[in-house]
Amino acid sequence: MRRIDIVEVGPRDGLQNDPARLDVIQKLEFIDRLEMAGVRRLEAGAFVSPRAVPKMADSADLFRQLHKRDGRSRIALALNEKGVRKAIGSAADEINFVLVASAGFGLKNQGMSPQDSADHLARLAPLVHEAGIALTATISVAFGDPYEGEVDVNSVANLAAQAQRAGVAEIALGDTIGVATPWAVQKMIEAVRCQAPDVYLRMHFHDTRGLALGNIYAAIEAGVDIIDASCGGIGGCPFAPGATGNVATEDVVYMLERAGFSTGIDLDRMIETAIWLESVLGHPVPSRLSRAGRFPYI
Ligand code: COA
Ligand code: ZN
Repeated sequence: MRRIDIVEVGPRDGLQNDPARLDVIQKLEFIDRLEMAGVRRLEAGAFVSPRAVPKMADSADLFRQLHKRDGRSRIALALNEKGVRKAIGSAADEINFVLVASAGFGLKNQGMSPQDSADHLARLAPLVHEAGIALTATISVAFGDPYEGEVDVNSVANLAAQAQRAGVAEIALGDTIGVATPWAVQKMIEAVRCQAPDVYLRMHFHDTRGLALGNIYAAIEAGVDIIDASCGGIGGCPFAPGATGNVATEDVVYMLERAGFSTGIDLDRMIETAIWLESVLGHPVPSRLSRAGRFPYI
């Protein structure tokens, strides 16, 4: 049975843009529930400017209170030197650096052009490696930029090649504003593999225009084994106008397990967590499975 690994991004990408604000205790409970449902890798927080993303301002506190658990990896997001140094000091198991595929979004999100972001990564990667922490990178707005429109596949592949040279083990191709199509996904994967053949690929889809599950199908058919998803389908980027939630973890698990893949995630517990999350956030979450329930029923 082919295994597909899911990286849960709800506590970071999900919560950063939700109207509700959870405190550290609630975030810890969210993480605990996700891990009890079988999640092995999750984005727990981000070391970014608290003015830019107030809901991640408590990430240092959160990491301090997260007890190590065997076989579980808690990821910290970082975009600049200050963030990388804080993430190293936080006992994160992995650091995920953000590259930008396009300058429009890049300047708004993190004050960087694509090349600036790649240069930052090249300079900061040795710090992470020396600290013995796994380093991954997300190429955001890889399929389209909210300010500049289409993004060239070759420029994404070129960034991936630079990330590979910097020693990154895994690259996530991020559809930050949900504009990829299954065919664009396949072309992108092919182009990135040509220029960065040694890295693992991970896909990060938002369901803004309803294509996220189709895009995941295309990525899996193209051989990708690692998918980002967010419990309940919450999320979005504060710097991408109109951004909506990530594809919902329970919807992805349902599709994959029903198709005969294994994810290691207990679907019922993930649905329960999405329903719990609604009560904590004080509003409904957009996932389908939390409404419709599993099939077969037992
Ligand atoms: N953590 C906390 N504070 C940080 C920081 C970090 N990683 N990096 C910079 N800062 C602080 C600086 O200390 C400075 O504070 P001050 O004004 O009190 O002196 C302020 O932020 C501006 O610093 P500067 O280096 O000029 O950065 P900037 O204004 O160009 O912002 C980022 C760059 C990356 C810090 C900022 O754009 C950011 O945090 N963006 C977040 C984007 C994000 O998380 N998006 C969603 C996920 S992709
Ligand atoms: Zn995202």
